Amino acid sequence: MVGKWAGTGKRRTRGFFESGRVMLNGQLCEDGQVQVGRFDHVQVDEVILQNEVPRYIMLHKPKGVVSATTDLEHETVIDLIQEDWADQLHLAGRLDRFTSGLVILTNDSRYSESLTEPSNKVGKRYLVEVDGGIGPEVISAFEAGIWFAKEKVTTSPAAIEQLGPGKCRLTIYEGKHHQIKRMFAKFSLKVIALHREAIGELELSGELKEGEWIEIIPTPGQTGGIPEAG
Ligand code: URA
Repeated sequence: MVGKWAGTGKRRTRGFFESGRVMLNGQLCEDGQVQVGRFDHVQVDEVILQNEVPRYIMLHKPKGVVSATTDLEHETVIDLIQEDWADQLHLAGRLDRFTSGLVILTNDSRYSESLTEPSNKVGKRYLVEVDGGIGPEVISAFEAGIWFAKEKVTTSPAAIEQLGPGKCRLTIYEGKHHQIKRMFAKFSLKVIALHREAIGELELSGELKEGEWIEIIPTPGQTGGIPEAG
């Protein structure tokens, strides 16, 4: 049987654990000071109060699929995960509808925040194709940072590797709305193809075809911020 309980706050659990009836992760726990994590198994007598499994999903998003949990018109990334727990997931950073590539979904908000929190400076690496030549002025401006008047921020220095006249590999360290399109738009260049290859140290698996996904086990503490200089 699954029951209701007040949650994982420190004050709420005091007294509760001291009752001597609470099993924490399969062991009797009488410590009123214990800190209960979101994914700890908590049971009182026969009643399971908390039993959620942490899930970390790497998905290869195809173009045309929406990075949202619900959408009235288009297929969503959640629709691609046909599991009964899929509706518990949220996105660790969205992609535009016509962008393909790596999307991470999870039910662990601490993990998703570690990837999306701007101060963590987690790199998001993309393959980009634009409708014109990427000149040295674009490269140096991206490396210096681009001013976004709407948000009143200058983007962190991006890493850019030219792959052809209108093609590059670009790593950015924020996730502003349409960020890459807006960066190129400053130079009157239109993004015609965009594909995310990596988020921090998580590389999109070459085994995953568009629309496919796998469960991953993230390495604790590895969010993959900007490499140390030198
Ligand atoms: N920048 C964009 O413009 N679109 C994306 O989907 C991701 C980054």
